[in-house]
Amino acid sequence: MFVEFLLLSVVSTAVGLQVSIPKAVYEVARDDNVTLPCTFKPAKPDNPTVIVTWTAIPDAGNPVPVGTFYYPTNHMDIKKEYTGRASMKVDVPAGKTDLILTRVTLQENMEFECDVKIPGDDEGVTLATTNLVVLVAPSKPMCKIQGTAEYGQNINLTCVSAEGSPPPTYSWQRHNVQNIPQPLPPRATNNNGLLSLYNVSMDTSGYYICTSRNKIRSEICNLTLTVMPPSMNIGSTAGIIGGCVAALLVLLIVIYCCCCRKKEQPEEYGVPEDVAFQDKEPLEKQGDPRDDRSERSYDRRDRRDEGSEVNGSTIDRRERYDDRGSDYSDRRDRYDDRRDRYDDRRDDYDDRRDRYNDRRDDYDDRRERYDDRRDRYDDRRDRYDDRRDDYDDRSERYDDRDRPPSVPPNKPQRIDYD
Ligand SMILES: *[C@@H]1O[C@H](CO)[C@@H](O)[C@H](O)[C@H]1NC(C)=O
Ligand SMILES: *[C@@H]1O[C@H](CO)[C@@H](O)[C@H](O)[C@H]1NC(C)=O
Ligand SMILES: *[C@@H]1O[C@H](CO)[C@@H](O)[C@H](O)[C@H]1NC(C)=O
Ligand SMILES: *[C@@H]1O[C@H](CO)[C@@H](O)[C@H](O)[C@H]1NC(C)=O
Repeated sequence: MFVEFLLLSVVSTAVGLQVSIPKAVYEVARDDNVTLPCTFKPAKPDNPTVIVTWTAIPDAGNPVPVGTFYYPTNHMDIKKEYTGRASMKVDVPAGKTDLILTRVTLQENMEFECDVKIPGDDEGVTLATTNLVVLVAPSKPMCKIQGTAEYGQNINLTCVSAEGSPPPTYSWQRHNVQNIPQPLPPRATNNNGLLSLYNVSMDTSGYYICTSRNKIRSEICNLTLTVMPPSMNIGSTAGIIGGCVAALLVLLIVIYCCCCRKKEQPEEYGVPEDVAFQDKEPLEKQGDPRDDRSERSYDRRDRRDEGSEVNGSTIDRRERYDDRGSDYSDRRDRYDDRRDRYDDRRDDYDDRRDRYNDRRDDYDDRRERYDDRRDRYDDRRDRYDDRRDDYDDRSERYDDRDRPPSVPPNKPQRIDYD
């Protein structure tokens, strides 16, 4: 066949083949069916062989032959990945070949080429291309409020469709409570779905509707804007509620603690159980004689008496036990007293000992002072002795000087000589 094609192409005519596609762009919504038409005009009619091929040419990657039709056998090859989705409708005598794509996807958003091969007719325009644009209707947009809807605040209303091809455009309208259209607030700006509202007030409240639209379809979302005074917003309300709950909790805890204290106090400072029991005892003792007296009037008095005796003996034993117990506690008290007295005496002894030590210290001090005084006295005595010596000397000298001349000063010398 290839050899045949080469031979035929050599003897091609001068007029040439003309292949064309009516439109440069075909639009289709995703999942819809589309027919890409292609026409061809051979140089001469009644060609024994015609081969028509549709090829998909992606922006990136290699061209993929979608389907090939062979005339006159009417054999059609469809590429595996298009099986069931692509078909060709070829009418060679009429010069028509359509590519039919069903349930188109966004992947078919590319160029398609129609290529016609007629042996001996390779001059002229043998192929034509067109662009398939797969459109996606806008999905239902999401309407949201950004910021706090409070008097004096600036807030944004947003509107976004998750998908849409070509990308949708967004517009906002406002309706009042009666659903009657109203103009948007004076300073509002709409920037591709972002509606900015400045210095909002009660007048800004209303019913806001966003329309997301592209060339196939449109979808809407809506929201109710309620602008509140600052004190009434949800945040502060939640804060107040939270505060109240916290205060209540604290109060409950305090009450619980107080109750616990009250319960504990009697256990700590209440009357001990044994004392309470002893207090009850006399009542029982008082009751016993009364019982005996009343029982005497009954016939079965003996048994009753026995019972009362038994009762009495247990009470006696109990009393004795209590007495012994009280004896023991008395003895113990006496022991404690004696011990206290011993401690007191010991303290006394310690005190006396301290006082003795003090006195001894005093005595030592006094003795030291006495020794000092004695030393001083000795000093003074020495000095006195000295002075006396002095005096004696001086008096001798006086005697020597002032003695009447009757006694000659050199008398002892004379005596020595005598
Ligand atoms: C697309 O084509 C298929 C099969 O040819 C058909 O069943 C379906 O209804 C068509 N869809 C539309 C939207 O025409
Ligand atoms: C509103 O949108 C503008 C522009 O994107 C932004 O600067 C501003 O912070 C937004 N305000 C709020 C409250 O989100
Ligand atoms: C906001 O609006 C109030 C009245 O609604 C007006 O008194 C105040 O001046 C406005 N503030 C600004 C910053 O525009
Ligand atoms: C507003 O939106 C709700 C839910 O999104 C919808 O049910 C209702 O029909 C919408 N109202 C208008 C007037 O579009």
